[in-house]
Amino acid sequence: MSKDIVQIFDTTLRDGEQVPGCKLDREQKLVIAERLDVLGVNIIEAGFPVSSPGDFQSVEAIAKLVKNATVCGLTRAVKNDIEVAAQALKHAKTPRIHTGIGTSDSHIKFKFNSNRDAIIERAVSAVSYAKTFVEDVEFYAEDAGRTDNEFLARVCEAVIKAGATVLNIPDTTGYCLPDEYGAKIKYLRENVKGIDKAILSCHCHNDLGLATANSIAGVINGARQIECTINGIGERAGNTSLEEVVMIMRQHPNLNLDTTINSQLLYDTSLMVSRKMGMMVQPNKAIVGANAFAHSSGIHQDGVIKNRETYEIIDPADVGVTESSIVLTARSGRAALAYRAKIVGYELTKTQLDDVYQEFLKYADTRKEIKDDDIHQIIETSNIDLQSIS
Ligand code: KIV
Ligand code: ZN
Repeated sequence: MSKDIVQIFDTTLRDGEQVPGCKLDREQKLVIAERLDVLGVNIIEAGFPVSSPGDFQSVEAIAKLVKNATVCGLTRAVKNDIEVAAQALKHAKTPRIHTGIGTSDSHIKFKFNSNRDAIIERAVSAVSYAKTFVEDVEFYAEDAGRTDNEFLARVCEAVIKAGATVLNIPDTTGYCLPDEYGAKIKYLRENVKGIDKAILSCHCHNDLGLATANSIAGVINGARQIECTINGIGERAGNTSLEEVVMIMRQHPNLNLDTTINSQLLYDTSLMVSRKMGMMVQPNKAIVGANAFAHSSGIHQDGVIKNRETYEIIDPADVGVTESSIVLTARSGRAALAYRAKIVGYELTKTQLDDVYQEFLKYADTRKEIKDDDIHQIIETSNIDLQSIS
C-alpha cells in the first residue's frame, strides 16, 4: 500500500530564529534555505517580513533563490502585514502567506480585549485579503492547544470558506498531552464542514518535552503537515524537531506515512544549522546528537560489535552518520577494548587482552573517556611483549 506523504513545513528561519542570541544574517539564511530545499522540505517559512527591513529582504532573497519548496511568510491578521508579506514573496515560484490570530480565551481576552465573534471576523478578513495576493493561504489559530474545540471548529470552518488551504493548529504553549492533541485533530476532521478542502497542520512547542509526540499524534489522527525546525530549535524549549518526526515515520512503516526528506542529509544539515546559529546540539539529542550512535557500556558494546541491530534501531548511514562509535570508558568490556585496539594497530591474543584489560581499567577509572592515544600508552607501558603483538 502506498504511503501518505506528510508535508514538512520547516520554520527554522522564522520560529527557530526567534531563539535569543541565534540571529542569522541574510547570507547565512540563504545558505540554510538552499540546504533545506535540497533536503527535501516542502515548505520553507522564510521569516516575518513586516517585522524588520532585514527580515523583509531575507524573505525576498529566499523567495528568489528557492527552486523546489513553497516559500512562506508569516503575518498577523493585519492588512499591512499581509501586503508586506505579499510583496516580499512576489518572486517565489510557489508563495504562501501564513496569517492568523489567537483563538484561546486567554488570547482573546488579554491580547485582544475582544470576543469570539469578532475574532472570527478578523480571521476571515485576513484570509480573504491574503487570497487577493496568493492562492495558497495558511491560517494559524494561535494557542489552539488551549482553545475550546467547538470554537476552534467554528473558526476553521469560517476560514476554509474564506479560502484557507492549510489550517495550522498550534500548541503554542506546549501544553497538550499527545492524546489530547490527537483528539483535537480528530475532532476537527469530524466536525468541520469542508475540512477536505484544507490540510490540517501540527505546530507543536516543546515546553513539556512533548512536541514530537504531539506532532506524531496529530498525523496519526489525520493531519498531513508538520511544522518543525532543524535540531528542534525555537522559542523557550523549542519546536518539534524535523529529524525526529521524519525518522519516526520512516522507522515505523505501520504508520503508512512518509515524507520527501532525504534523510542522509540530516546529520550534516544539523551541523550546519548548529554552527551558523552558534547553538550547540545536546550530545544526547535523538538522531543528530554526538552520542546518538555512541555505545559506552560493556554489555551494549559487546552486542553492537556482534551485530549493530542489538542496540541500534536506525542505521547511522541512513541519517548521514558514517558509523556507530564505540566509546571506551571504565564501563567498557574486553570486546570493546580488543575492537578499538585492533583499529589502532594491535591484534591482541586472549591472554594479552586479559593483561592489558587490567591496566586499562586502572587507567580508565581516572579518566572520563579513553582515546586512541591512551590505548597506545596503556599497551606500550604494559608488561606484555610488544614483539609478540601482530
Ligand atoms: O507557536 C505559534 O503559535 C506560532 C504561530 C505564530 C504560528 O508560531
Ligand atoms: Zn510557534
